[in-house]
Amino acid sequence: MSNLRKRKRILTIVGARPQFVKAAAVTRCLRLHADETLVHTGQHYDNNMSDVFFDELGIPFPNYNLDIGSGLHGAQTGAMLKALEEILLKETPDCVLVYGDTNSTLAGALAATKLHFPVAHVEAGLRSFNRWMPEEINRVLTDHIADTLFCPSETAITNLNNEGIFNGVHFIGDVMFEALMDARIKAEQYSTILSQLHLETGKFILATVHRAENTDDPDKIKRLIKSLAILSRQTPVVFPIHPRTKKQLMREGSVDEAVNLHILDPVGYLDMVHLEESASAILTDSGGIQKEAFWLKVPCVTLREETEWVETVQQGWNTLAGTDIDKIVQHALQPSKPNHHLDVYKGEGSVRRLIEILC
Ligand code: UD1
Ligand code: UDP
Repeated sequence: MSNLRKRKRILTIVGARPQFVKAAAVTRCLRLHADETLVHTGQHYDNNMSDVFFDELGIPFPNYNLDIGSGLHGAQTGAMLKALEEILLKETPDCVLVYGDTNSTLAGALAATKLHFPVAHVEAGLRSFNRWMPEEINRVLTDHIADTLFCPSETAITNLNNEGIFNGVHFIGDVMFEALMDARIKAEQYSTILSQLHLETGKFILATVHRAENTDDPDKIKRLIKSLAILSRQTPVVFPIHPRTKKQLMREGSVDEAVNLHILDPVGYLDMVHLEESASAILTDSGGIQKEAFWLKVPCVTLREETEWVETVQQGWNTLAGTDIDKIVQHALQPSKPNHHLDVYKGEGSVRRLIEILC
């Protein structure tokens, strides 16, 4: 970070919704200390899955958009690898920065390491220990080829150590926290989603579902939708729906039993944060939303059998309900709200710590 040192040239790769949120927190500060080239793989491309985050969070326009779009894992990751290789050879960065666990993360890390560009991974060390999840494969592979591993929790460091990874491992805390705190203030000012939907603070449930393990299993998606329909007979349920889930719902789901179920297109980050903060409980299979619920002290019911964010469960703010209808309904209507809240993810200062190490 010293002014005497030459500014580093960092090439950042993003592609999916959660990466825009994480990069938003880092980019602004990073550009004060380094020269950043931003590459968008185009994995997410709908306006409400991509552009809205750049606009609302003030993320700089990407220097490259690869427009890769959707596809099978091999085709999508392969197309990204090919396009990224050309850009890396042209840009010759000092370091390649990747976030999270998507196909864009793995493609970025793999393309860079094959060309001997150092790789830094934000959100390293997370594990579900479920190799059926494409994200788990992406995380494990990325961590094993990364040179610098930025961990958001002590558990993440232990996970890496257990896999023999010790060098370049840093506990910096979770960078999503700073994005959330910024957005929370803006959301208070600008979001009108509650009045648009005629909702009152503390009197509705927010739900999201997008994990392949849920959407692509007809029984699971049916049980999840049935749970939301049952709940909607007692309290309004707001369900901003990921395009993957929308497709599956059209094939498998029936919302006939629902009464007060607001099915929306994906919402922008400010509306999302406002909904999260105002909900009585959040039902989700999202990684990012489990943490946001924890930070906002809103009880969370996770629609999965396991989580990478084990601390949220240990502290009693999060309950794993899988796709068990009775469990989901019970925990959503009588959510656990402990009176303690330990700041395990040390979000505040995480961006500064990242930049001190990277630059
Ligand atoms: C991806 C990540 C997942 C992450 C999620 C965040 C992988 C393997 N998965 O899952 O880890 O939690 O992003 O949201 O990288 N689609 C659209 N418009 C878009 C984007 C996607 O319609 O802008 C539809 C397409 O039909 C596509 C499907 O959604 O086939 C899935 O998109 P994809 O990017 O492959 O995976 P996600 O489920 O979004
Ligand atoms: N999000 C959003 N609008 C939505 C759904 C999610 O802004 O309609 C935000 C959410 O608040 C979080 C991020 O997107 O910051 C998480 O993305 P997602 O759940 O798609 O991915 P995951 O975190 O599971 O990888």
